[in-house]
Formats: sequence, C-alpha cells, structure tokens
Amino acid sequence: MSIKEVEDRLNNSPFYRKKFRKVFGTDRIKFEHVAQAIAEFEKALITPDSKFDKFLRGEIKLSEEELEGYKLFKKLGCISCHNGVNLGGNSFQKVGIIHPYPRHKNTPDRYQITKNEFDKNVFRVPSLRNIDCTHPYFHDGSVRTLEEAVQIMAYYNLGFKLSENEIQKIIAFLKTLRGKLPEILKEN
Ligand code: HEC
Repeated sequence: MSIKEVEDRLNNSPFYRKKFRKVFGTDRIKFEHVAQAIAEFEKALITPDSKFDKFLRGEIKLSEEELEGYKLFKKLGCISCHNGVNLGGNSFQKVGIIHPYPRHKNTPDRYQITKNEFDKNVFRVPSLRNIDCTHPYFHDGSVRTLEEAVQIMAYYNLGFKLSENEIQKIIAFLKTLRGKLPEILKEN
C-alpha cells in the first residue's frame, strides 16, 4: 500500500482519528505516526516467563521428558542455529545442509536478494518461542505439524532419523517455550 493510501484510509476512519489524536495530539494522521505506532506495538510483543525461562532462572524444574528433550536439542545440534534469547532470529541458514531439500523456483530465499548460488534455500532462522501455537511451519507454511518440522530439521540439516520417542521429547521441550501473552493483545 502506498504511503498516501495508508494516510487516506486512516484519516477516513473516525475510530483511528480519535485514537491517534489521543496519543499524538494531532488531527491529521501522518505516516510517521503510523510507523511509530507499529514500532511501539511490535516492541510490546514479547512473551516472557515461559516454563523454560523459569527453569533457566532456577525457579522450577522441568519434567523428565522436557529435560531430555532439551538435552537432545543441544546434543543433536539444533542449538547451532536456534540459539540466543529467542532460540533463533540471529542468522540466515540453509535448509538442506546434510541432505538437499527440495526448492521451488520462486522461493523467497536469500538467493532472491543476493543472487549468490550459495544462498539458495537460505532463510532467517525463526525463533522457537511459542512454537506450538504458530503452525503451519516454515516460511511458506508448507509444513503442517511440529512433528514433521522437527523430523525435517533433524534429517535435512543434521543427518539424523529420529525415533518417535525422541521427537516427542523434543516437542515436550519446545512446548516449555510458550510464554505469557503480551498485555497489549488483551486490550479491547
Ligand atoms: C543449520 C541450521 C539449523 C539447524 C541445525 C536446525 N534448524 Fe530448525 N530451522 C532452520 C531454518 C533456516 C528454519 C526456517 C525454514 C523455513 O522458513 O523454510 C528452521 C525452522 C524450524 C522450525 C519451524 C519454525 C517455524 O516457525 O516455522 C522448527 C520447529 C525447527 N526449525 C526446529 C528445529 C529442531 C528441533 C532442530 C534440531 C533437530 C533444528 N530446527 C535444527 C535452521 C536450522
């Protein structure tokens, strides 16, 4: 949408005019206000205090299954890409490091931007926080279940065929990454 259309649409809405007047003290909504509002909204989108956060702070214990899943997550090497405070979001990585992963011609990967052969099937590593609430998976929503996503990752990126039991343990761990919903989403 063009800047002008964004401004026109919002200024045509009494609801948004009232809301923006309250925050920015202006009668005419400008694109800068919109950008600032969206930035503030995004900054509020944090989901702290997951079970895993509490575990890392030494406040609670994980169940045996969750703990084994966490150990597998580290031992298998998931952590080499899904790391940091959000278990992801820090780097661009290839899907298909060990076994080639099928790629559609127009896949919006890093290659589309850099035109470097090496960047084919390279994507931003997603955060795994709240991962059991955000199916379908992968950049194109092509993977429906968490089981499938974990299996694909293990096989194509690390070269392991996981047993059903190992997958369930990893998923039990991944479920501990569900945090508290942001206050901002509770409003209205
Ligand atoms: C070499 C880096 C790398 C390794 C190792 C890796 N991943 Fe990933 N993972 C990625 C990338 C890149 C994506 C995004 C794929 C896409 O968008 O198409 C991803 C996607 C995912 C997703 C889907 C996230 C979403 O929001 O769609 C899950 C779940 C996941 N990985 C779990 C794991 C697990 C569990 C392991 C270990 C068995 C693992 N990953 C190992 C790079 C990696």
